[in-house]
Amino acid sequence: MTLLDVKSVSKRYQRGAAHFFAVENASLALGAGEFVCVTGHSGSGKSTLLNIIAGLLPPSAGAVTFDATELTSLGDAELSYLRNTQIGYIPQGHSVLANLTVLENVCLPFYLYPRVGNPADRAGELLAEVGIAHLAHSYPAELSGGELRRVSIARGLVNAPRLLIADEPTGDLDRRNSDGVMELFSAVAKSGTAVLVVTHETESLRYCDRHLQMENGKLT
Ligand SMILES: Nc1ncnc2c1ncn2[C@@H]1O[C@H](COP(=O)(O)OP(=O)(O)OP(=O)(O)O)[C@@H](O)[C@H]1O
Ligand SMILES: [Mg+2]
Repeated sequence: MTLLDVKSVSKRYQRGAAHFFAVENASLALGAGEFVCVTGHSGSGKSTLLNIIAGLLPPSAGAVTFDATELTSLGDAELSYLRNTQIGYIPQGHSVLANLTVLENVCLPFYLYPRVGNPADRAGELLAEVGIAHLAHSYPAELSGGELRRVSIARGLVNAPRLLIADEPTGDLDRRNSDGVMELFSAVAKSGTAVLVVTHETESLRYCDRHLQMENGKLT
C-alpha cells in the first residue's frame, strides 16, 4: 500500500530576473517498509524535494499525499503535528539545540507532542545504536561533526516514524559509522517504516530497495 505519494511536484524559484525549476515534475510513490535512495549532483534539487515531502516547503505545483491526506490541505498546526508524530526528518545541516544535552535533543520531538511512554529509554537505545551512548549527557558544543550528525539521526527515529526522510545522513561519517547508520535504516524499514534517503555515497546504495536519480530538478 502506498504511504507517500508525490505527484508531479515542481518548485519554481527566481534568481535575479531568471526563473528556474529547482524541482520539476517529480513523482514518486513509497510504500510502508520500502527503502529508497536518491542520488544526484549538488544543486540538482534533492533537499528541495525532501523539504516539500516533509511539508516544510510548499510546492509551486503538484501534490504530496501522506497516508491519504494531501499536505497542502493542512494548516500549520496540523502539518507540524503530522511531522512530529508520523515523520522523522533528518535535515542536511546541523539542527541540534545548543543549550540542551544530547539526550534532551533526541527526546525533543517527544516533548513537543507527548505520547505514552518514556522517550529517554528509546532515545538511549538509539544513541547506543549510533555509537554515542557515552555522550548522552554532553552538550552539542562538546561533540564532533559526525557525532552531531548521529544525534540528529537518533532524534529522527525517536518517535518511531512511519516515514523517515534523511538528507545526506552519512555525509560526515566514516565508513564504519556510515554502514552502521544504513544498517539501522534497513532495520527500521524492515519494521514497516518507509525510508527515503538522499546520499552521495555509492557504497550506501546496496542497502536500499530502489535507487532514484535527480538531475536538474528531474527525478528518474
Ligand atoms: N530559497 C531558494 N531560492 C532560490 N533558489 C534556491 C533556493 N533554495 C534552493 N535554491 C536553488 O535550487 C537548486 C536546488 O537546491 P537543493 O538544495 O535542492 O540542491 P541539492 O540537490 O540538495 O544540493 P546539495 O547536494 O548541494 O545539497 C540550487 O540551484 C539552489 O541554488
Ligand atoms: Mg541538499
